[in-house]
Amino acid sequence: MAAPQPVPQLLLGPPAKAALFLTLTVAPGREDDVRDGLGELSGLSRSVAFRARDDALACVAGLSSDAWDRLVGGPRPRGLHPFTPLHGPRHHAPATPGDLLLHLRARRADLCFELARLVLDRLGDAVAVVDEVHGFTYFDERDLLGFVDGSENPTGSAAADAVLVAGEDPGFRGGSYVVVQKYLHDLTAWHALPTEEQERVIGRAKADNLELPDDVKPPDSHVALNTVEDENGEQLQIVRQNMPFGRLGAGEFGTYFIGYARTPDITERMLRNMFLGDPPGTTDRILDFSTAVTGGLFFVPSATLLDDLPAPGTAPAAEDAPEPPPADAERPGDSLGIGSLKGAPA
Ligand code: HEM
Repeated sequence: MAAPQPVPQLLLGPPAKAALFLTLTVAPGREDDVRDGLGELSGLSRSVAFRARDDALACVAGLSSDAWDRLVGGPRPRGLHPFTPLHGPRHHAPATPGDLLLHLRARRADLCFELARLVLDRLGDAVAVVDEVHGFTYFDERDLLGFVDGSENPTGSAAADAVLVAGEDPGFRGGSYVVVQKYLHDLTAWHALPTEEQERVIGRAKADNLELPDDVKPPDSHVALNTVEDENGEQLQIVRQNMPFGRLGAGEFGTYFIGYARTPDITERMLRNMFLGDPPGTTDRILDFSTAVTGGLFFVPSATLLDDLPAPGTAPAAEDAPEPPPADAERPGDSLGIGSLKGAPA
């Protein structure tokens, strides 16, 4: 009988109204405690999610390359490496500290807050929070620049295909790679631009959210630089779940960028286009109004693997892993229905 497929974490749930992004570091010597704590995440999620079953609470956890080596034994995910900082002619994408990423989402902010409280309580002083962002939905899914953000995300099975590792790395089937960056906007400069100019920066119309025609959309617009294709002309896609955030008193207005993909290569290519330019020097005009202040790359193991991460020195060698089905076999998400994750409310 074929081995059961690993169940993905809930990357592709219904649209969230609120999100909480926590970046944590793991205290030296506390790796075992944290690995055990991660194994309890699905149970903690169930405890909160079950009490508000219509509100789609999800908590997705990812580990950085360095954290993987410290916490987990055996083979490592093929594409996992530290976030590559970028230094372009005008703009910089820094790499900032972070061993773990927790991405909590729900239709209600209180659920994210409660679950994060329980998780941090469980992890205790084995972790330190180095970044905490509370995101909210702004009108009809707009960012604080006033544009609808997320329209061109793939949906349904195309989304699962874009984000879930499959036959290319069978030991990590059902996993995903996530890149996060916290951006701060210069809204004074942005608001000084006429709407038509803002639309040329983004590459879409502001009011009705239509993409600008190719002959009008500038090559340095955000959409132009993030539309990337493979050698056969197929568009390469990621799933973005960005959220606005801010602190009025501090004059802080931001977008938390979060992009899931089956391989980090695609997101990294988009970042190179934005920061270094494509062709080189043609950088993304959104960066003239947005500064990246954090950057991290994490591997999101399947929920099945997260529940039972092997300790260093205990994992079976890759060649002992169960024989994978052929690469074109059913994808991890397909048999489960997108979003029907272990630990999610029924
Ligand atoms: C598209 C906002 C950062 C990748 C868009 C759109 C908006 C937007 C408004 C157009 C509508 C849509 O399809 O979603 C922002 C803001 C950012 C940001 C405010 C932070 C300042 C990034 C980053 C990446 C990225 C860092 C990739 C590394 C994309 C992609 C599209 C897109 C792939 C769709 C392009 C298409 O196929 O039309 N973004 N974005 N974005 N963005 Fe961003």
